[in-house]
Amino acid sequence: MGSQWGRDSAYIRAMHEGYRSRAAYKLIEIQNRYHLIREQDNVIDLGAAPGSWLQVIRALTRGTVLGIDLSPIAPLDGVQTMVADFTDPAIPGQVRSVVGTVNVVVSDAAPRLSGHKSYDQARAMALGEDALSFACNVLKPGGNFLVKAFQGEDFNHFLGDTRDHFLSVRTFRSRATRKGSSEIYIVAKNFVDIR
Ligand SMILES: C[S@@+](CC[C@H](N)C(=O)[O-])C[C@H]1O[C@@H](n2cnc3c(N)ncnc32)[C@H](O)[C@@H]1O
Repeated sequence: MGSQWGRDSAYIRAMHEGYRSRAAYKLIEIQNRYHLIREQDNVIDLGAAPGSWLQVIRALTRGTVLGIDLSPIAPLDGVQTMVADFTDPAIPGQVRSVVGTVNVVVSDAAPRLSGHKSYDQARAMALGEDALSFACNVLKPGGNFLVKAFQGEDFNHFLGDTRDHFLSVRTFRSRATRKGSSEIYIVAKNFVDIR
């Protein structure tokens, strides 16, 4: 993770405190403000490698915690992992059969960057939409959803799509996000199943 995020002070702090990446602090900030995850919740983490969100989630709930990523995730006590592309339509069904009731879906998934900003943003937003579809497929009514997004052309459209499925939708910019980044999180609570 060092090469992607840079070995800045947040990275060094994360390593010192035993987190696998500085991304942990973003989820901690969001949890402190929005109380997204409760102590009995079963939680799915999309784009979970190397696993710092999984470390935070494991400490918040006694429920099942499942992380999915294209890359393998080094073992973590009490955490199940799956090497898979969560946009594959077969995966939500597999997840439901492993986990049963799903209370919370979080997604910090991001595509590998090409360096072309508008192209990368469009791909990142498409992945966010895929995470929303996944969440709508597996969440129980009343469930919660957190997704990474990017402020840009498609952002308001994505926010509107999220509002169609959740009673409460907020946006949150983390203090741990790099200056100049358009990264923003959408925090959606209280899923309404309209299928
Ligand atoms: C920023 S990292 C996630 C960091 C993670 N939240 C943590 O705390 O360690 C983004 C991850 O999304 C994963 N990813 C991107 N597209 C994916 C897909 N379609 N299915 C599964 N994982 C995906 C990448 O492999 C990468 O590991």
